[in-house]
Amino acid sequence: MVVIPVELAGRSYDVLVGRGLLEQTADKSGHLLRKASVPVVADRNARIHHGVRLENALSAAGHAVHWYDVEPGEAAKSWQGLERLTDWLLAQGVERGDHVIALGGGVVGDLTGFACSILKRGCGFIQVPTTLLSQVDSSVGGKTAINTAAGKNLIGAFHQPSLVLADTTCLDSLPDREMRAGYAEVIKYGILGDADFFDWLADHGPAVLARDDAALAQAVATSVAAKARIVAEDERETSGTRALLNLGHTFGHALEAETGFSDRLLHGEGVALGMVLAARYSARRGLISAADAERVASAIAAVGLPSELNTLGLACDGRTLADHMLHDKKMDAGTLPFVLLKAIGEAFLARDIELADVAEFLDTQLQAA
Ligand SMILES: NC(=O)c1ccc[n+]([C@@H]2O[C@H](COP(=O)([O-])OP(=O)(O)OC[C@H]3O[C@@H](n4cnc5c(N)ncnc54)[C@H](O)[C@@H]3O)[C@@H](O)[C@H]2O)c1
Repeated sequence: MVVIPVELAGRSYDVLVGRGLLEQTADKSGHLLRKASVPVVADRNARIHHGVRLENALSAAGHAVHWYDVEPGEAAKSWQGLERLTDWLLAQGVERGDHVIALGGGVVGDLTGFACSILKRGCGFIQVPTTLLSQVDSSVGGKTAINTAAGKNLIGAFHQPSLVLADTTCLDSLPDREMRAGYAEVIKYGILGDADFFDWLADHGPAVLARDDAALAQAVATSVAAKARIVAEDERETSGTRALLNLGHTFGHALEAETGFSDRLLHGEGVALGMVLAARYSARRGLISAADAERVASAIAAVGLPSELNTLGLACDGRTLADHMLHDKKMDAGTLPFVLLKAIGEAFLARDIELADVAEFLDTQLQAA
């Protein structure tokens, strides 16, 4: 097991990464669970595959688990979903000093975290992430949110968990496509800030995706450590450091919007293609070499993630995609900061990008042979 501290004044916590942590839930979180009864908010699939493991561990330590089931899918992150969950937590008698456990991917983590941020003005929660994306990204850093008609994650709060238990055996049951989507966020840490990790993934990516114990543990732990460093430096995304985590997300968001935020393109797939576009756009601006941009594209394509815009079958032009970016929540006083590359392993925030130029660039990618 690897312990990665997230250092935040007054709100520090540990992320534990390892195999079989679910069986140790009571040992690892016992100090946070004050009462016999423990509310657990669970993604339905996560509960089917791993609920018994969690329940056995907690009941062996004298706890009674009370389950709240969440249907898989983004729809759960809604006002209605939030209302239903907060009503349930109140009915369970959850108090400010209590902790709620979130078992599932980013959907359950975001929804539960947000509910806990407002329940009685804030109660505790423990993240037990069960997807690769949630283990390396969404469970760490305290961003919580729901979606509204106006867009994704527009209503939310910063509310840090008290503990994260990332049990890599949970990924054994994850569908391959979800595994690859999460891998996009893993490789992101290499591209944005760690060239050695990028090189390591070139050799070990297939083993990570095949859930090889050692490779997976190293990839998750390295990713979490990178995120923990960034969050400790810029918890509320005010200095620009945390914004680097948005590498690939501005292009990706436009692609997700154009495909209707549907299964046609999972978030991680959009980010993967978005990172290729960010790298190629960096090359277009003379920031990196075309060869380096193609190294990024090859690394993404090598694991079966989408790397070519012209293969998505979009019936739109670059202007339409750029227009989606205007609704990006990263818009700041009329400008849209883009995360671009000075090198593989060195991302920066560019604030001088003209959307018309981005639209022209996207046209070249849509039309590429
Ligand atoms: N808070 C943050 O910092 C942050 C960062 C990135 C993404 N997000 C959010 O995270 C969400 C995406 O998270 P996600 O990719 O984990 O998706 P998800 O929570 O929708 O889970 C993906 C699918 O995997 C299934 N699943 C979960 N665990 C499983 C397991 N162990 N075995 C089998 N199936 C399992 C789920 O039922 C679902 O069908 C989005 O809502 C996104 O906005 C938040």
